[in-house]
Amino acid sequence: MEKGLKMKKEEILLIAKETEDLLVPFCSCGSLGLHGLSHLRRVAILSGRLASATGEDVEAAVVMGFLHDGARTDDKGGNGHAHDSAVLARQLLKMFYPHLEADRICDAIARHADGEVTGDTLTACLWDADRLELKRIGRTIDLDLLSTRVAKRLARARAARMVPVALEGRQSR
Ligand SMILES: [Fe+2]
Ligand SMILES: [Fe+2]
Repeated sequence: MEKGLKMKKEEILLIAKETEDLLVPFCSCGSLGLHGLSHLRRVAILSGRLASATGEDVEAAVVMGFLHDGARTDDKGGNGHAHDSAVLARQLLKMFYPHLEADRICDAIARHADGEVTGDTLTACLWDADRLELKRIGRTIDLDLLSTRVAKRLARARAARMVPVALEGRQSR
């Protein structure tokens, strides 16, 4: 897929659906509460949208997003699952996506739980998409741990939207 091509949301959703249909049977995390299929799906779509916004390869970003927690077997912390998921990703990339940059993708997956930021934009699409997901478990998103400007903007916008809801809740008590 050509880099630098802005893509419509519907096209990204279609790529994400095709990716999910192909890869879900190989992932061990599907039924987990916090890191199950819906988490993989959301990270894949958001990673693809960040790739489109930053001129990166959308297909690579979607596939990487879907596989980043693919070998998880529980919802616990630590980065062991990231290394296991990178090993699984390398096998699946070889089988189904030989045209994608396996080294770059697997490195990004292996390091996604290490708490770093990156100057590599494709890697940043995954790391930022996964961190923007932290809100689902009630954690505040640390803007300093986001690598792209577009993700920082998104995090700020989401935080701003949360304020009236929080205030409403307080007033109604
Ligand atoms: Fe993870
Ligand atoms: Fe994740």
